[in-house]
Amino acid sequence: MPRVRVKLVSWDEIVEWTMGLSKIIEESGWKPDVIVAVARGGYVPARLLCDFLDVTDLISVQSQHWVEAAIVAEKAILRYPYKVDMSDKRVLLVDDIVDTGESLILAREFITREWKPLELKIAALQWISPVAKMKPDYYLIDVKEWIWFQYPWTRLEDISQFITRIFREDERAREEITEDKLKELFIEWYGIHPSELSHYWKLALEKLQKKGTLKKTDKGFKLEKK
Ligand code: ADE
Repeated sequence: MPRVRVKLVSWDEIVEWTMGLSKIIEESGWKPDVIVAVARGGYVPARLLCDFLDVTDLISVQSQHWVEAAIVAEKAILRYPYKVDMSDKRVLLVDDIVDTGESLILAREFITREWKPLELKIAALQWISPVAKMKPDYYLIDVKEWIWFQYPWTRLEDISQFITRIFREDERAREEITEDKLKELFIEWYGIHPSELSHYWKLALEKLQKKGTLKKTDKGFKLEKK
């Protein structure tokens, strides 16, 4: 068993899942006038929902919560709290996943209070039911056991953080290690083989060196910043 439960999600799965979600919304008989994507995770599902539900109006709000992949940050905050009149609009608020639900709760509160929509419903591809503090009106997958969904739009960011975490937390990466050893630890930690990540593996290592997190050595890599 890997230390961190991760599911690598493909672009094809995203299209398939969002199509499934759009069918559920359609079959409910409800149709939004405006879709509001929760930035940044809701962007791709929201854009695809516009396509599948034939909706032209797409805007967004930014609710930030997660700092590091698979590690919870303390609180969600709403960035750029602009105001618009939605009193004659049916609004669908869209995010990729409902984990704790805090960022969606915050976005819902803000939109209800400041935009006063005629109706507001919430949709997400996934709902982690055992930990979520809210249930979306529409969801496709009820996730029964917490897992980190490695979505294709955060691949570089997540892989970089996954690698950094090994260097920070694994005793075996205290000193410099070879790239092969790093790959071995990566598989052990996350259950993902770097060959599944195509160019992202190399890109993440380059990014971490550029940022000064990792240093290239004769043998391989070592952690630069503590
Ligand atoms: N964002 C918040 N929780 C998440 C999870 N479990 N997987 C992917 N992205 C997330």
